[in-house]
Amino acid sequence: MLRAGLVGLGTMGRHHARLLRSLDAFDLVAAVDPGGDRFGVLFETPVLGSVDALLGHGIEVAIVAVPTAHHEHTALALADAGVHTLVEKPLADSTAAAIRVAERFASSAAIGVVGQVERFNPALVALRQRLRSNELGQVFSITTERVGPFPHRIQDVGVVKDLATHDIDIITWLTEASIELVSAQMAHKMGRDHEDLVTAVGKLSDGSVFRLDVNWLTPTKRRTVTVLGERGAFVADLLSADLVFYANADVPTEWDAVARLSGVSEGDMVKYAIPKPEPLRRELETFAAMIAGETATEIATMDEGVEILRIAEAILISAERGETERIA
Ligand SMILES: NC(=O)c1ccc[n+]([C@@H]2O[C@H](COP(=O)([O-])OP(=O)(O)OC[C@H]3O[C@@H](n4cnc5c(N)ncnc54)[C@H](O)[C@@H]3O)[C@@H](O)[C@H]2O)c1
Repeated sequence: MLRAGLVGLGTMGRHHARLLRSLDAFDLVAAVDPGGDRFGVLFETPVLGSVDALLGHGIEVAIVAVPTAHHEHTALALADAGVHTLVEKPLADSTAAAIRVAERFASSAAIGVVGQVERFNPALVALRQRLRSNELGQVFSITTERVGPFPHRIQDVGVVKDLATHDIDIITWLTEASIELVSAQMAHKMGRDHEDLVTAVGKLSDGSVFRLDVNWLTPTKRRTVTVLGERGAFVADLLSADLVFYANADVPTEWDAVARLSGVSEGDMVKYAIPKPEPLRRELETFAAMIAGETATEIATMDEGVEILRIAEAILISAERGETERIA
């Protein structure tokens, strides 16, 4: 069992608390939150006032689930103390800060990773396996949609760093390609300092194209990923963790009216029955396995966390300047 500490007991931290208490690999010894245990998830486990106090409890592993603006100083203190750390996404509030965190972990004995939890969404896990098995043939495009109402607690960053960082990671992790070009538009509709809507399109190193559509202005919550390719299209619903495949037909339609309506190649539709373990549980189990020495490629490294922020900042610059950004 790893002696674990949790920093931040808010919306995300409370789920980490529940899982750290229930997983065999961890022993949650204490948490830190200046606001205390708002959600009542710690029971007899102490809530402390500072990371220094937490380090006094001899922790071996920590989860950082504080607001994004506090990730850097919290993660640096944990790296300096040699504590294996999972920092919630995004790794930090800027690329420069993310690089400082990644470099500090690289030069310490501690493992540092980023909580890109969508990598453990069962629909995306299944989709990635199917893409790797070349079931789609050549990939033409990947489109993500992450829209819904504004969560009032997010004050420190806009929708690009808070939410689109999920999509940037999904696009590159699923395709195993890097983003070369991006062009974005955004909007500020709620009168906050930061943007609340973004649409970005771009090109990947494998020649495919992507589009992400992310906002806090839509009254209904939707999270989807569509990968279109030679043999059809996969559609993943990230809220229900369902994966559907719409195949191009092998058999040409001879009825002209139907062919015109549906497209000549509309084929079978398959909804896969996939196991649905809780993504955050799988992420924490994978992190524990990594600390135990297993190679766990599905968890996001800090270097990947830096790249995600680099793309997020390119999106912001593209939208501000009205120009296409080339990613070096
Ligand atoms: N992986 C995901 O899907 C996902 C989902 C939600 C949030 N997050 C990330 O988790 C982080 C927290 O988001 P949230 O929605 O839980 O926010 P939140 O505001 O609900 O909770 C943050 C908590 O941190 C506490 N806090 C503030 N400063 C602190 C400090 N210096 N030390 C200790 N505690 C401190 C606050 O009192 C609060 O309880 C953000 O970086 C966010 O991007 C990730």
